[in-house]
Amino acid sequence: MPDIDAPALIAAAREAATRAHAPYSRFAVGAAVLLTDGSVVTGANFENASYGLSLCAETVALATVSSAGRLRDVAAIAVIGGVMDAAGRPTGTVPVSPCGRCRQVINEAAQLSGTNLPVICGAAVGDAATRYLLSELLPSAFGPADLGML
Ligand code: THU
Repeated sequence: MPDIDAPALIAAAREAATRAHAPYSRFAVGAAVLLTDGSVVTGANFENASYGLSLCAETVALATVSSAGRLRDVAAIAVIGGVMDAAGRPTGTVPVSPCGRCRQVINEAAQLSGTNLPVICGAAVGDAATRYLLSELLPSAFGPADLGML
């Protein structure tokens, strides 16, 4: 299992957030997924003119991980976000935590990788960050284990 460099993961999430497609909410989110080999896969929120079809950054990042066949190799995830300024950059010093749907999506990777995943919640700007375990954010989770997949 790689060391978790939280500031580096937050930096990767911040970089990803600069590529958010969020013209409707003007709230940019970036996620960075650390894999067991130390590599990092990122994603940003991807909104849609049909608002309800929008995808969260964590979901985009984890779908990319899954598409690479690496869902069982997830070691941690970081998320940051904030209201976009006129230049489209996220602002704000308050850490963002994953929405309920994203917690469930993270749980898919957590159960398949056999790890109670660290979830690092950072802000767009500044040093404020909180490190959780997924079980704190989604206790008693339903997942692949309930379907006999593990
Ligand atoms: N969003 C995320 O990308 N991740 C979350 O965990 C919370 C919300 C996005 C969805 C939408 O594009 C914008 O933030 C405002 O809700």
